[in-house]
Amino acid sequence: MQALDEILLEKCKTAKRVVAITGAGISAESGIPTFRGKDGYWKNYRAEDLANNQAFENNPKLIWEWYQMRMAICRKAEPNPGHLAMAEMESIFPEFHLITQNVDNLHNRAGSKNITELHGNIFTSRCTKCTFKTIQESDNFTLPPLCPKCNSILRPHILWFGETYDIKVLEKCREILNAADILLIVGTSGQVTVPVYLAEEAIRAGAYSIDINPEKSSLSQKVSIHLRGYSAKILPDLIMQLTEIR
Ligand code: APR
Ligand code: ZN
Repeated sequence: MQALDEILLEKCKTAKRVVAITGAGISAESGIPTFRGKDGYWKNYRAEDLANNQAFENNPKLIWEWYQMRMAICRKAEPNPGHLAMAEMESIFPEFHLITQNVDNLHNRAGSKNITELHGNIFTSRCTKCTFKTIQESDNFTLPPLCPKCNSILRPHILWFGETYDIKVLEKCREILNAADILLIVGTSGQVTVPVYLAEEAIRAGAYSIDINPEKSSLSQKVSIHLRGYSAKILPDLIMQLTEIR
């Protein structure tokens, strides 16, 4: 087990409000490719070329094929020790909130309860015309799926590039981030404006900030400490050391 920085442990010992922001890297060790890593391409498309409304309008079947393939990967994947550690944090700190950019459902399956899924959930679909929303229980459905209420095309309930975040969700995130004693940033490259802005909000407000990533990200130099490594290793180590001191 890697011994962690003393200041970090001291901060964790007294912290009351802790917020984590996670990205694709926390699910890498569950076998889910990250967006911007070498396996992030599909049929030579980048995620940005597929996860947008224009691409969906041009070719809904193609975009659905991509989601169907990813749904199958996410369904087969299992939460890793990093996800389990995140769920455990809820019983370690008096207040713990998880904000994830991931849509893979693995934090829920690991047992986290206090979660905001900033970009949606891959298993939920919604109608492009009416208010119908559904959970896809299997990955074998005809493409594109149609709304049982109005027969329009369904779309993944995911926040795509160029789309607006729910203002109420953002306000709630800002509120908890502003009050945070500790901010944990895990497995994100910091390439998407809003999550970066949210993380910076907590840093500006004085939270002690920890970045866990095997590489330096756009956020690594802004945080109090960058822990270089894999979240499936560092987060359980952190939990072990925290349970000894708290
Ligand atoms: N542990 C921790 N971090 C890891 C690990 C690991 N085992 N493996 C990879 N990483 C890091 C990478 O170094 C990289 O910095 O995870 C990060 C993944 O970055 P991205 O693929 O860009 O994913 P993310 O930051 O979550 O992307 C944000 O962009 O495509 C959109 O909406 C999508 O939510 C997504 C958003
Ligand atoms: Zn409908």
